[in-house]
Amino acid sequence: MSKPKVLVTRLVPEAGLNIVRENCDADVWESDMPIPRDELLRRVRDIEGLYALLTERVDAELLDAAPKLKVVSNMAVGFDNIDVPECTRRGLPVGNTPGVLTDTTADMAWALMMAAARRIPEGERYVHEGKWKTWGPLLLLGPDIHDSTLGIVGMGRIGQAMARRAQGFNMRVLYYDDLVPQEAVAGLGAQKVSLEELLAQSDFVTIHVPLMPETRRMFSTERFKQMKPSAIVINTSRGPVVDPKALYEALRDGEIAYAALDVTDPEPIPMDDPLLSLPNCLIVPHIASASFKTRSLMSTMAADNLLAGLKGERLPTCVNPEVYNR
Ligand code: DGY
Repeated sequence: MSKPKVLVTRLVPEAGLNIVRENCDADVWESDMPIPRDELLRRVRDIEGLYALLTERVDAELLDAAPKLKVVSNMAVGFDNIDVPECTRRGLPVGNTPGVLTDTTADMAWALMMAAARRIPEGERYVHEGKWKTWGPLLLLGPDIHDSTLGIVGMGRIGQAMARRAQGFNMRVLYYDDLVPQEAVAGLGAQKVSLEELLAQSDFVTIHVPLMPETRRMFSTERFKQMKPSAIVINTSRGPVVDPKALYEALRDGEIAYAALDVTDPEPIPMDDPLLSLPNCLIVPHIASASFKTRSLMSTMAADNLLAGLKGERLPTCVNPEVYNR
């Protein structure tokens, strides 16, 4: 029996790729760089399954170019690269990879918070530039993390994982989230507050909201002005949740102390972006889920979603389950 044709838009961890290759006639874009748009549109013409990454825009134009498509599987928990309502209208289930990256992403947000507070990037530069001449009582001082106040914006899985970590650091935890049920956060010792209160009281503000129309540019000039001048902001969610110009001005003008970002807008950040000129902004290249184990689990989860969709079965993790009620 012939195998279903699918496109995998990048080399992904072997665990997932092997599953796809065993079960499908797989066209794999074997490059470190994203597949160019025209190539993508050309290669989806005959496919029944699309195994995509967050670097691919899955929109009406792509769906028009792929008339045989049965399923879209994103190897990411976030799915803002996909026009989900458009997929639903066309009866296409969309899969993502929730859960497996929760702790790995929270570990990274925590690492960014600690690196920012304890000035690790500056310390590293200081040593490499040959400036370390003696122990200094005033050298590279920063705020304590333990006993401080952590503000979690978005108390989903990753936000909750941050609250669990904060317990070990004896932190006071505030959170802002109107959707998460109280039972989900019970036992985490976190207090629900308004966004204004959270921003005014937190020493660290960590962002864990998905990118949606409601959260785009949520962190604006006005929001930065509501924070403490000593505040450290960590973003491991999506770049466009923060207004980059407002962030730049807030950091430049001392309205907040520091930002540590795993995500930017745009990505990759252009080398002439003013944020890169600031000493108080740490940026890493969207690697919060980048542990061996987690990326492997994400790749198999995405493969399982793809195969289920090809067989016409319900996806194990589907972002538009309403597609099954049509
Ligand atoms: C996601 O899964 O949405 C991350 O941004 C990449 O792991």
